[in-house]
Amino acid sequence: MTLHAAKSTGKPTKMKAVDVEVFYGEKPALKKVALDVHENEVTALIGPSGCGKSTFLRTLNRMNDVIEGCRVKGQITLDNQDIYDPSIDVVQLRARVGMVFQKPNPFPKSIYDNVAYGPRIHGLVRTKEETDEVVQRSLERAGLHKEVKDRLHESGTSLSGGQQQRLCIARAIAVDPEVILMDEPCSALDPIATARIEELIDELRTNYTIVIVTHSMQQAARVSQRTAFFHLGDLVEVGDTAQIFTNPSDERTQGYITGRFG
Ligand SMILES: Nc1ncnc2c1ncn2[C@@H]1O[C@H](COP(=O)(O)OP(=O)(O)O)[C@@H](O)[C@H]1O
Ligand SMILES: [Mg+2]
Repeated sequence: MTLHAAKSTGKPTKMKAVDVEVFYGEKPALKKVALDVHENEVTALIGPSGCGKSTFLRTLNRMNDVIEGCRVKGQITLDNQDIYDPSIDVVQLRARVGMVFQKPNPFPKSIYDNVAYGPRIHGLVRTKEETDEVVQRSLERAGLHKEVKDRLHESGTSLSGGQQQRLCIARAIAVDPEVILMDEPCSALDPIATARIEELIDELRTNYTIVIVTHSMQQAARVSQRTAFFHLGDLVEVGDTAQIFTNPSDERTQGYITGRFG
């Protein structure tokens, strides 16, 4: 397998994976994956179902730790620091590298408390004023504030699917992360809600580094600057999104983007 070097965009590397292998029991799910995630860019992970996209995404904030029988080998760094080092506080790590899931999963709490929860448990806010401010700013950044400002004390689960997903993004943002991981964040949403989230992702990259798993090649093309194509546990190639979609180097990528399999 050849790994093709990405075109340099001049952006610094925020996270770096080297020789990452993941096993579920004895079964390998990822084989020696190497990937640089650039700061303030959106990196899209694409590939057929079961190829290891979610598995790889979870290695970036150690969500695999909670899966019984799952082992990770190799190295992953965040700002050149090994995130699997025993000295790493995993709770702190997951605040720096937040996650948004496929199905919107607001807590059964008010809109306000959904967003305030993280800052409270991480001790980022002390007073009501500070909490109000973080809640407002996070909802604004997630493009939801205008729609919910008069109903902050209603349940998060009373919102529409698209609003719930933006609430989950606001919740991730509230603890001031550096990287946001998104695993097919639009797959449960209608086209209008999807378009709204895609616009938001583009705005968010100004302040955050984003890694998104998507099964939609159109979405990867619309929102990302770099794309990584996975196939059967291999990271086949990674590069500038336009290059991957117009002139891929590997025939497996070519096969996938032209719809021959996947
Ligand atoms: N919790 C798990 N336990 C055992 N095997 C798993 C688990 N999660 C994923 N796998 C296996 O790992 C491989 C990669 O899965 P996954 O990362 O979910 O792929 P993708 O997100 O690309 O669809 C698949 O063969 C899948 O069956
Ligand atoms: Mg998946």
